Amino acid sequence: MKEGIKVFAPATVANVACGYDILGFAIDQPGDEIIGYLSDKPGLRITKITGANGKLPYEIEKNTASFAAMRVLEHLGETGIGIEIEVHKKMPFSSGLGSSSASAVAGAMIVNELLGKPLSKKELLHFAVLGEQVADGAYHADNVAPSLFGGLILIRDNPTLDVHSIPFPEGLYASVVHPQIKIRTADARAILSDQVTLNQTIEQTGNVAGLIVGMYNSDLELIGRSLNDVIIEPQRAQLIPHFHKVKEAALNAGALGCSISGAGPSVFALSINQSIADNVGQAMHKAFFDNGIENELFVSTINKEGAVRV
Ligand code: HSE
Repeated sequence: MKEGIKVFAPATVANVACGYDILGFAIDQPGDEIIGYLSDKPGLRITKITGANGKLPYEIEKNTASFAAMRVLEHLGETGIGIEIEVHKKMPFSSGLGSSSASAVAGAMIVNELLGKPLSKKELLHFAVLGEQVADGAYHADNVAPSLFGGLILIRDNPTLDVHSIPFPEGLYASVVHPQIKIRTADARAILSDQVTLNQTIEQTGNVAGLIVGMYNSDLELIGRSLNDVIIEPQRAQLIPHFHKVKEAALNAGALGCSISGAGPSVFALSINQSIADNVGQAMHKAFFDNGIENELFVSTINKEGAVRV
């Protein structure tokens, strides 16, 4: 039997309320797996896709994972090498959990691992973002960077990928509920107005700065006050049935803050320990469920590892 290498790339919560396109963190589960093999037959091929219900293409230039993998091979001048990959989707599409980003990250990682790690994770970032761009058309790293590096990541500037890892208080837990509805990221981006008032800008930049200071200083109350999105959430909330009830349930159960995960429909909350995060998660789950919306709950610390070989 031929021997393969397996990589895992975790789900992520992008935006973290106030940081549209510039903040994101990784969670432990779910995530995507790719198994890769070196082959005598030249060229990159996807040999198997599971967990996607036939919805993911096998064409190298259309699949986020293989697109990223191919860009890494081109960069290394190794497009002639034979590589076969199996893409095992372990997370839902159009969920707000960074599904396409996790695949793109795993695609870039698998090639690097198979070739003996010629590139650092920092060097892989651009290629993984290019892979993610296949899915939503935009070049932003707020899912890809945390899935790759782990932790809480600030992208000061997306075009130049000026990314920074932000410390966070030990014990911070995320509760993430994924309601069984689909929102395409491209659609959730298309509805956003490009008009922002000066007052909104002042409030939002204050919250981003407050969130970062709160994370650095483990100031939980400041984190809670800063988890407030005055620009994007008010526009996207209408896409998620009962969003306000779910948010209210999270806050009543003791969450520091609650908002839309990425482009939605998943909703996340941050809490100061696992026991509160469990209660918060159950409250969010129940709020969706009682309103007729099936949903899946994930409770996790902020994942520190990011994508790993397993
Ligand atoms: N920042 C992105 C958005 C994340 O909210 O559209 C989803 O890709």
